[in-house]
Amino acid sequence: MLFSHNFSRYLQISSINMTLKFFMIIMSVLTVVNGLDNGLARTPPMGWMQWERFRCLTDCDNYPDECISHKLFRAMADHMLSDGYLDAGYEYVIIDDCWFSHKRDNEGRLQPDPDRFPYGIKSLADYIHSKGLKFGIYADYGIFTCAGYPGSLNHLEIDAHTFAEWGVDYLKFDGCYSDYITIDKGYIEMDKYLNATDRPIVYSCSWPAYQESNDMESNYTALAQTCNLWRNWDDIDDSWESVSEIISWFSTNQDRLAPFSGPGHWNDPDMLIIGNYGLSLEQCKAQMAIWSIMAAPLIMSVDLRTIDAEFRDIILNKEAISVNQDPLGIMGRLVLTRNKINIWTKPLQPREDGQQPYAIALMSNRTDGYPYKIGFTLTELNITNPNGFQMKDVFEKNNTLPFITDDEKIYLRMKPTGGALLVFTPIEEQLIVV
Ligand code: GLA
Repeated sequence: MLFSHNFSRYLQISSINMTLKFFMIIMSVLTVVNGLDNGLARTPPMGWMQWERFRCLTDCDNYPDECISHKLFRAMADHMLSDGYLDAGYEYVIIDDCWFSHKRDNEGRLQPDPDRFPYGIKSLADYIHSKGLKFGIYADYGIFTCAGYPGSLNHLEIDAHTFAEWGVDYLKFDGCYSDYITIDKGYIEMDKYLNATDRPIVYSCSWPAYQESNDMESNYTALAQTCNLWRNWDDIDDSWESVSEIISWFSTNQDRLAPFSGPGHWNDPDMLIIGNYGLSLEQCKAQMAIWSIMAAPLIMSVDLRTIDAEFRDIILNKEAISVNQDPLGIMGRLVLTRNKINIWTKPLQPREDGQQPYAIALMSNRTDGYPYKIGFTLTELNITNPNGFQMKDVFEKNNTLPFITDDEKIYLRMKPTGGALLVFTPIEEQLIVV
């Protein structure tokens, strides 16, 4: 991304505005909804999950390295460690659907497919834990899972117990084959059983995905009290169309959703598909930028054995991750659309001196095929700091601007269907050089 700006003069400025802004941020934190109090997911969960990339591939004869088996998860755990993902904060390795045997055991417990998980789930969890990672699993509140394996209906207590025994740290609890109108009651009951195990288990719920897609507005107060994260909307597919449709749904509904984002409870727009077949490099930057600005869980679904380095760099980008993991947990919002380019903003944790940093994400949905130069000012985005900001374009090397004032035009040359993430750090008050 290219940008340009004008330099101004030396300035001496008072900090009254900063104090006011600090107060406003504190107030907005205090009005955030109180959520599930299991002490987990204080920042958006980060990890790896099989579903988008490997789906329900169970044919291990023909696809031994890609089928849903213990080998796949062990291999991914190894790469989480060796390729820097764990160091960057990606800690959960999560099995999605299709790990099950079609029948429960004689005691009514879920069991894994014996050929694909010959040593059982506990030994896989142990392996993952031995790497310093955490272990997640999938189940479904209804009669069946979405792929037709046994559901947890009428077995909630025993399933919660089994997961705790296996050493599960994260449960993705889906909602296929259940009644979407009353589904929340089942999730709330499962929460009770999970808590009763005394094992800390991050609880990922899907009930809004089933209600919202049936034109029913979910009860987000109950969600934030019950679940650590929740899938609000459609499944992600490996395409720009899917990513942009999901982003558009979240921005359309942002006023309803944003108040419920915060430490311990997160809106979840679904997996990161960066590094697969469907998105260009620029589109991958857009997904990482918007997921970071939305404080969305960062759950990758990609083959870590073969991902290209340039895509891995996006997933591992430290500044994007720190925007995503900002301790305030504010879900950023779309504030301006100009020439088919959407601009989102997110206040970050104020510094100790009370100064307020921001992140800004841009997403271009222009399909005209050439870079487009967009101009905007911080004032247009309701961002101000009398002292000015330093600006960093996080996916571009050497693109730091030392000094930007509120009314100065910032220009970016946005690639078509792509994105950018900018971090604005307030400049210390007093003498400002430009
Ligand atoms: C649903 C979920 C997906 C995935 C599949 C598994 O569609 O939304 O994320 O878990 O089920 O069958």
